[in-house]
Amino acid sequence: MTYTMPRKPKSIRREATVSAVSKPRRRKILGLQPLRAAALLAIIALLAGTALSQQENWARQRRQLVERTIAHPRDLRDPVRAPRVLNAMRRVPRHEFVPPSLRYQAYEDHPVPIGHGQTISQPYMVAKMTELLELKPGDRVLEVGTGSGYQAAVLAELVREVYTIEIIEPLGLAARLRLERLGYENVEVRVGDGYYGWPDQGPFDAIIVTAWSTHVPPPLVAQLKPGGRMVIPVGNYAFQQNLIVVRKGDSPRDLRMDSVMPVVFVPLLGEHPKPQE
Ligand SMILES: C[S@@+](CC[C@H](N)C(=O)[O-])C[C@H]1O[C@@H](n2cnc3c(N)ncnc32)[C@H](O)[C@@H]1O
Repeated sequence: MTYTMPRKPKSIRREATVSAVSKPRRRKILGLQPLRAAALLAIIALLAGTALSQQENWARQRRQLVERTIAHPRDLRDPVRAPRVLNAMRRVPRHEFVPPSLRYQAYEDHPVPIGHGQTISQPYMVAKMTELLELKPGDRVLEVGTGSGYQAAVLAELVREVYTIEIIEPLGLAARLRLERLGYENVEVRVGDGYYGWPDQGPFDAIIVTAWSTHVPPPLVAQLKPGGRMVIPVGNYAFQQNLIVVRKGDSPRDLRMDSVMPVVFVPLLGEHPKPQE
């Protein structure tokens, strides 16, 4: 018995051959078929556009904050007038220093929690304290109380070198990484007790303390250059202190202290001897 293999009809075989040859060969883009590549590019463009408009949105909120509450406060607060300080406030992205869940508050004029019972200071206060330091571009500045690193970033926009100390280690380490990521190369962050300053980097042209103390720490006075300025909240009560500007004359004992306004800050942590009157 013979068995013949069934064969496809000729017409079908021809069709198959023809379609295989005539199918247009589409050139791949980025290793993808054109349609897929177009879809991918559209998604990238959409994401880039969204990120850009979010950045523009933050910048707009920042400009409004500076104009409405720092340069021209609607209440009785003294306006911040120094153009360099106002420009620094317009530049530094405060939302980068606020926890992601609270970013929507980044450009409101109040302190925002940053964890460990601490806060990033109110923008008006950051600007006013910075203005009171009367900074010059070549200055070297010490900050006590790094917190989020925001105040340090504002200072870094204005002076040659910023040294900042934070007593709570996770905050200090996070601030250091954040400042590096944002490109602030003229800021050094140290974890430690800022009451004792940073003797091996002093003396400083200016010192800012962003936590309240019962007195002006003598080690900080010692690390201030003659002619230098220190801004510090001083008081005896948690619910109100006075913002003090200390100006150092040519001798260590030549100190002038001016009280600027009542403020509320978090306390300076650590065990410190109270100096004899
Ligand atoms: C109001 S927050 C500062 C906000 C900060 N300047 C910013 O821009 O986010 C005060 C900070 O001072 C820190 N601090 C308190 N006592 C300190 C001390 N003895 N030495 C260094 N930092 C201290 C706190 O841990 C807190 O992070």
